[in-house]
Amino acid sequence: MDKVFELIARERELQETTLRLIPSENYTSKAVREAVGSILMHKYSEGQAGKRYYQGNEVMDDLERLCQERALAAFGLKGEEWGVNVQALSGTPANLAVYTALLEPGDKILAMYLPDGGHLSHGWQYKGKKVTLVAKIWEVTFYQVSEKTQRFDYDQIAKLAEQVKPKLVISGGTAYPREIDYRRMGQLAHQAGAYYLADVAHEAGLIAGGVNTSPFRFADVVTMTTHKTLRGPRGALIFAKKELTGEIDRAVFPGIQGGPHNETIAGMAVCLAEAQTEAFKAYAAQVVANAQILAKGLTTAGYEVISGGTDKHLVLVDLRRQKLSGWVAAWALEAAGIIVNRNTVPQETASPFYPSGIRLGTPTVTTRGMAKPEMELIGTWINQVLKVCHKWQLPEEKMARQDFVKEFRQEVRQEPRLIEIKQAVAELCRQFPLKD
Ligand SMILES: Cc1ncc(COP(=O)(O)O)c(C=O)c1O
Repeated sequence: MDKVFELIARERELQETTLRLIPSENYTSKAVREAVGSILMHKYSEGQAGKRYYQGNEVMDDLERLCQERALAAFGLKGEEWGVNVQALSGTPANLAVYTALLEPGDKILAMYLPDGGHLSHGWQYKGKKVTLVAKIWEVTFYQVSEKTQRFDYDQIAKLAEQVKPKLVISGGTAYPREIDYRRMGQLAHQAGAYYLADVAHEAGLIAGGVNTSPFRFADVVTMTTHKTLRGPRGALIFAKKELTGEIDRAVFPGIQGGPHNETIAGMAVCLAEAQTEAFKAYAAQVVANAQILAKGLTTAGYEVISGGTDKHLVLVDLRRQKLSGWVAAWALEAAGIIVNRNTVPQETASPFYPSGIRLGTPTVTTRGMAKPEMELIGTWINQVLKVCHKWQLPEEKMARQDFVKEFRQEVRQEPRLIEIKQAVAELCRQFPLKD
């Protein structure tokens, strides 16, 4: 067997036997995977449906239009008011295309601060270093959550928007557990003379499923990825008010991309049909219920859950009260078969590579069919793992030493309590196999 297929089999085994609590991940249906693995990948189709630069695109035109129709339907939008570009290769290029379409180089962007849950693709810069291309081209200012509530103070953001006078205001992030007030964001952006982009990469499935608020009434442009709560292939959708769609299409191609990935467009079309079913609505509601159960369990066990809970699919836990690093916790949890990612928290005091928190998400476990009893059990296991971690209260200099990392991972993997939990996790996973 080709080594690649051995690696796929190994990864499949891991995905089946461990709990994947990364909020940006999910398990797709077999239909989505078949579409993405199809012969559609053989075709080049630069341009837009009905206006291509290559011959032989009759089917691709129909496919792209079908995907667009389903995208509008999944979010209850009228084709006379909204257009949707389905060609962006992923969330980051989708956002870049929006900036390319709406802004001139040097224009100002107001976006959410990364350590408070924002996203790199909104123009992250750190200690004066322009980490992203976006920050090199545009002038980015960030708004932060309130220290007291760990939520947004919209009056403060409005004041900042008045001072900065951005041309674009962005909301959305990877680790903000609360619903964003899209109405207020839209108002404050428009009052400051800016466009409003709602990036709902994480919440897309919760919005389609009707359990989170829809931003469409208030935003000029809405971007989303299709591979997170929406449960589709890795891809992105850019919805824009009708008057902006021409600029957005031209920014995607030829602005920043070449030929679209037709197989991904097909996979997105499949997932967008799935997202309109009753079963999907039930899944979306359960995703949120599961996250709330997890947040409650961890709060009761003495952990600081950022903002006191969640409205969504993710829970952010600050481990400073336990004097633990998110790095240590994430490795220990992995040794116990629980895959999470370490994350910065509001008023972060540590560096982004060794942040103070962990981020937990419920999409994949919900897709497997897990509900309240399993979430309570998972919360208990997380607490037990974190208790074991007390002996690893490590300074950052130590965690950063490569020789130590190897040694530490070895030690963690041999920890008897973590081995026991890993076995229990695998047993639970066997009861909730991945569905095709
Ligand atoms: C808010 C937000 N926007 C954009 C992206 C970028 O998506 P991708 O990783 O597909 O480029 C992400 C990914 O996590 C995200 O959370």
